[in-house]
Amino acid sequence: GAAELGPYRHYMQKEIFEQPRAIGDTLEGIEGITPELFGDGAAEVFANVDKVLILACGTSSYSGMTAKYWLESIAKIPAQVEIASEYRYRDSVPDPRTLIVTITQSGETADTLAALKHARSLGMTNTLTVCNVSTSAMVRECKLAYITRAGAEIGVASTKAFTTQLAGLFLLTLTLAKTRGHLSAEQEADHLKAMRHLPVALQAVLALEPQVIAWAEDFASKENALFLGRGLHYPIALEGALKLKEISYIHAEAYPAGELKHGPLALVTSAMPVVTVAPNDALLEKLKSNMQEVRARGGQLYVFADGDTRIESDSGVHVIRMPEHYGALSPILHVVPLQLLAYHTACARGTDVDKPRNLAKSVTVE
Ligand code: G6P
Repeated sequence: GAAELGPYRHYMQKEIFEQPRAIGDTLEGIEGITPELFGDGAAEVFANVDKVLILACGTSSYSGMTAKYWLESIAKIPAQVEIASEYRYRDSVPDPRTLIVTITQSGETADTLAALKHARSLGMTNTLTVCNVSTSAMVRECKLAYITRAGAEIGVASTKAFTTQLAGLFLLTLTLAKTRGHLSAEQEADHLKAMRHLPVALQAVLALEPQVIAWAEDFASKENALFLGRGLHYPIALEGALKLKEISYIHAEAYPAGELKHGPLALVTSAMPVVTVAPNDALLEKLKSNMQEVRARGGQLYVFADGDTRIESDSGVHVIRMPEHYGALSPILHVVPLQLLAYHTACARGTDVDKPRNLAKSVTVE
């Protein structure tokens, strides 16, 4: 009801603004990195795996894609992500030393549950879920679990579930890094400090809402949009495009920026807004040359740039300045303005934001 919504117009907006609280709750009480964060017997399970296979659908698959980058770069463990509805029906090569990680807000998605059972039938019994509902079928089915504390998510388009999944998956990364000897005491302390600071950092990003609203006015009249990101932020570009198409019905695609020249550049005209996720990381210079390729074809760039990137507004280049680069946790901050952009664009178009046409919150049948 209206009372629950408080100052917000929709559940989605309320849930976007709840993210500092949701992340704070998800990480509450964590004093140090230990396998027990994932349940009894976790140490033994982690000692028996040397690769990770992530299974999920929709937004949850994009948190999984982000985790793949973390797992390989920080924990040095090979990681793969598969869409649950594909994995369950394909012939694959099972390896019993695989940690199966399912990611699901609801814990009831039929394809993800079937993919888990398929993996188990192939002899992969080391199973862990990152899930928002502690009483769900998925939590019952998996040996280990990390329960995110986003609270009930009502908007069909997932927001706070996604960022809390990322928090849980980062903890999993640190735990596997530590058990495999890739996390020093100093690195552990630094990562924990950055995680504890996330609620404050998220508040600073939410304060950008008025600037995002101004961009949403431009987007409302578009029929297409392209989202670019690289590395750890490519899955964030995918999630930004998914949010926009789900609730505003604007056709949106995401590409890793280095792939522009192999196709999507043909679509770039002045009618095509190009949203660019621009963290100040090792790929920044490469990303800047990708942005030049767009500018040279008259494309309109809408750039979310970290404060320390020195990317300036120019003709055809709109910039919203994020806080300074946030290191490995940067995806958790960069997705938030993309959620807001989709939300305000949908509002400007007058769509049913919390209940977009043809979509369901939880898909419990195939
Ligand atoms: C539906 C929802 C999405 C969600 C997906 C997976 O499509 O509309 O928001 O990402 O299911 O749901 P799950 O509960 O498994 O994360």
